[in-house]
Amino acid sequence: MASRALYSTSFARAGRVAAPASWWRAAAAVRQFHEAKPPARPAPRALGEVVKPDNSGGGGASASQAGAKRAVHELYEDVGSKKLADFDLKGGVYVVTGGARGLGLHLAEGLVEAGGKVWCLDRLPEPDLPFQQAKQRIKPEWGGSLNYCQVDVTDNESLERVIRSIGELHSRIDGLVAAAGIQKICPAVEYSPDDVAKMMQVNYTGLMMSATAVARQMMRYKIRGSICFIASMSGIVANKGLISPVYNSSKAAVIQLARNLAMEWGRVKDDGSGGIRVNCLSPGHIITPMVEENFREVPGLRETWERENMLGRLSRPEEYKGAALFLLSRASGFMTGGNLVIDGGHTAW
Ligand SMILES: NC(=O)c1ccc[n+]([C@@H]2O[C@H](COP(=O)([O-])OP(=O)(O)OC[C@H]3O[C@@H](n4cnc5c(N)ncnc54)[C@H](O)[C@@H]3O)[C@@H](O)[C@H]2O)c1
Repeated sequence: MASRALYSTSFARAGRVAAPASWWRAAAAVRQFHEAKPPARPAPRALGEVVKPDNSGGGGASASQAGAKRAVHELYEDVGSKKLADFDLKGGVYVVTGGARGLGLHLAEGLVEAGGKVWCLDRLPEPDLPFQQAKQRIKPEWGGSLNYCQVDVTDNESLERVIRSIGELHSRIDGLVAAAGIQKICPAVEYSPDDVAKMMQVNYTGLMMSATAVARQMMRYKIRGSICFIASMSGIVANKGLISPVYNSSKAAVIQLARNLAMEWGRVKDDGSGGIRVNCLSPGHIITPMVEENFREVPGLRETWERENMLGRLSRPEEYKGAALFLLSRASGFMTGGNLVIDGGHTAW
C-alpha cells in the first residue's frame, strides 16, 4: 500500500475509533508549519522541560550539561506537595506499540491513569473491545487520553510518518512502550529462513525502528524521554515446556539492544538533545490472547508453567502496569540500560 494512502487511512481510522475527525488534517498543518520554521521549543510542562534529571555523568562541562545540573533540584519541586509526584505523567505524550490488546493495552491504560496522553499503535484494523472499555474508564480530570492508530511496525515508512505526526501534533513525545510482538511454537529443525526473518522483523527490527522514530522526536523537541522495551524472561532462560527458539532469541536481542541504545542516547548533548533512558521490562508468563493460543496448541502447558514459578500461578497483564509507569516516569530517573524482570520467581530458583 502506498505510504501516503496508509497514512491517511491510518489517521482516518484513528479519527473514527478514538480521535477528533480533524486529527490528521491538524497533524499535516502542524507538519507544514515545522517544515517552514525550525521546531519551536515547547512551553514548560510537567515533564521534559521542567524535569531534567542530569543523566550526563560527572565530567562534562558544556553549557547544556551545566543547565541540566542546575535543573536537578526542579526534579523534586512538587514532591511532598502532591501525591506520588514522581509517577505523575500529566502533560506527557506516550506511544505504545502493540496497544490494541493484551499486555500493551493494559500498560497504556496505566499511563493514561497517571495523566499521560497515550497513542496505541497496532497492526489490527481496530482495537479489541477491552480498548473501548478502557476508554470509558478514563477520568478526563486526570488529564490522560487514549487514542488508536493502525500501523504495522514492520512498515517502516508508515511507522516513521505516524510517530513524526504524533510528535508534531503535541510538539513532544515523552515515552515509548514497545510491546508489539509475535510468537511461534516450532522446533528449530523445522524453521525456515523466512520464518526466522518474519519473527525477527516484528520482535527485533520493528521494535528498534519504533525506538529510533520516537527518539528522533525526543531529540527534535529536546525531551528527556524514557523508552521501555517489552522483552521477556524468555530472553534470559529457555522456557520449560515451550519450543520457541527464535522468539526467545529475539527477546535476548532486545535486552542487548536496550543496553546499547541507553549508552548511545543517555548523555545530554551540547544542543540540548539526549538524556533519553532505555530499559527493558521482562515479564514471566501472562494470560493474554498470545498465551491462550499457546495453551490451545500445547495441552498441559498451563499446568507446567504454573508449577515453574514460586507463586504457583500465571500473571495477569494488569500486574505490570505499575512497572511500566515506573520505567516511563521520573520515579526511575537514574535507571537506564536495565532489565526489570517480573516473573513470580520463575528465574530465581
Ligand atoms: N503473554 C506473555 O506471557 C508474555 C510474556 C513475556 C513477554 N510478552 C511480550 O509482551 C508483548 C505483548 O504480548 P501479549 O502477550 O500481550 O500478546 P498479544 O498477541 O495479545 O498482543 C501483541 C500485540 O502486538 C500486535 N502486533 C503484532 N505484530 C505487530 C506488528 N507487526 N505491528 C504492530 N502490531 C503488532 C498484535 O496485533 C497484538 O495486539 C509481546 O512483545 C510479547 O512477546 C508476553
